[in-house]
Amino acid sequence: MAIYRIRHCERLSGEVQIHSAKNAVLPLMCAGLLTRDPVTIENVPCLTDVDTLLNILDECGVHIQRDGTSVALWSEAPCSPTSQNLLSHMRASVLIMGPLLARTGYARVALPGGCAIGQRPIDLHIKGLEALGAHAHLTSGAITLQGELRGGSVYLDFPSVGATENILLGAVLARGNSRIENAAKEPEIVDLCKFLNAMGAKIEGIGTGTLYIEGQKQLHGCVYRPIPDRIEAGTMLCAAAMTDGSVLLRNASPEHMRAVLFKLKEAGAIIKECSSGLRISGRAIHPFQVRTLAYPGFPTDMQAPMMALALRLQGTSVFLETIFENRFMHAREMVRLGAHIRIEDRIALVNGGQPLAGATVNSTDLRGGAAMILAGMAAEGETMLQDPQGHIARGYEDLPGMLSALGADVTVMDWNPEEANG
Ligand code: UD1
Repeated sequence: MAIYRIRHCERLSGEVQIHSAKNAVLPLMCAGLLTRDPVTIENVPCLTDVDTLLNILDECGVHIQRDGTSVALWSEAPCSPTSQNLLSHMRASVLIMGPLLARTGYARVALPGGCAIGQRPIDLHIKGLEALGAHAHLTSGAITLQGELRGGSVYLDFPSVGATENILLGAVLARGNSRIENAAKEPEIVDLCKFLNAMGAKIEGIGTGTLYIEGQKQLHGCVYRPIPDRIEAGTMLCAAAMTDGSVLLRNASPEHMRAVLFKLKEAGAIIKECSSGLRISGRAIHPFQVRTLAYPGFPTDMQAPMMALALRLQGTSVFLETIFENRFMHAREMVRLGAHIRIEDRIALVNGGQPLAGATVNSTDLRGGAAMILAGMAAEGETMLQDPQGHIARGYEDLPGMLSALGADVTVMDWNPEEANG
């Protein structure tokens, strides 16, 4: 679908605006299944994941009205999507289960797709919805859930972001009170809770590991502006820390990015919080150690961009990936540029400061693809990054444009596999 041409870059400077968070917007959009009144989401980023989910919601009978960057969604009689193939394209599509069940007592969805960064089962989603009274059965690649949702108690074995969202989206319309223990605490969960409360839901314990939900008979519309994208902001910070520039990220939310800011400062970058966002100046110089964890720990989505930064730092940086079991695919591509990286199970050792030279490389997944753009900027000469599945555009709105606005030389062209192979 796309091929990126990246040339070496020594310095980034200037300012860019951070978009709304993809991972906040997608669950918010699914709330369009919960009400007859329009819910209006403002500042919706221009991402292919957003378009795919809109197509899925359209198939579910959700009315969609776009006005600039605002999207209004509502549904009189929602239903399960007829064609199941769109769902296999994106992980977040599974989030239609909770609201469909709550509203209609029936949901049938294909097992979700998305980045192949691990097995990514949905057992916790299903167990949670079963605890609210649903009956589940799996047939030929799709899961069917049935039953009137009633209040219940859910304990998540792991604070899964998606499972917490799905259960919340069901519990708000269930009959009675529910409790989710060991719930995820990510800022995107907090945003979803605030949004649902703005629709008339009653959720307490927001931002903690235990969420209390008082089920409502119905919810109403609202107008809501989602939080800024902490991963987009973090990716831009890594890009800036690789060079010796000064970059202002307007609209970035430092309070959602403590773990990443701490690591970047430890590596030597100078980061200042200001009223308009975050300013980074100076080059990172020290290698570091990262252990990915659930929020407020270091985000797994930032592991790949931080690895691109580590390529430039003299010495050994260590990455321990605890969330996903197959999330070092980008390392293999970085090695093609000349990087010295050793992988042992869930640990990656990056011996940084080696000379890197442009080459043809692949985008392996969403964050890994973005990290390869950064790695290409660090390499001498020209790097061609092939992204036939369009991973990067799924989650970054015009990343080449944002980097180019700061002085990088990154362009995106349409993918022509014959040319690339020939
Ligand atoms: C969300 C984010 C993704 C981020 C991830 C972790 C969205 C659209 N995506 O993904 O960018 O990397 O959180 O912060 O918001 N698991 C199970 N069973 C389940 C659910 C999850 O075993 O039912 C496991 C997963 O395989 C994984 C871990 O739990 O190893 C974390 O997954 P989860 O928090 O659910 O991530 P997602 O919601 O898929």
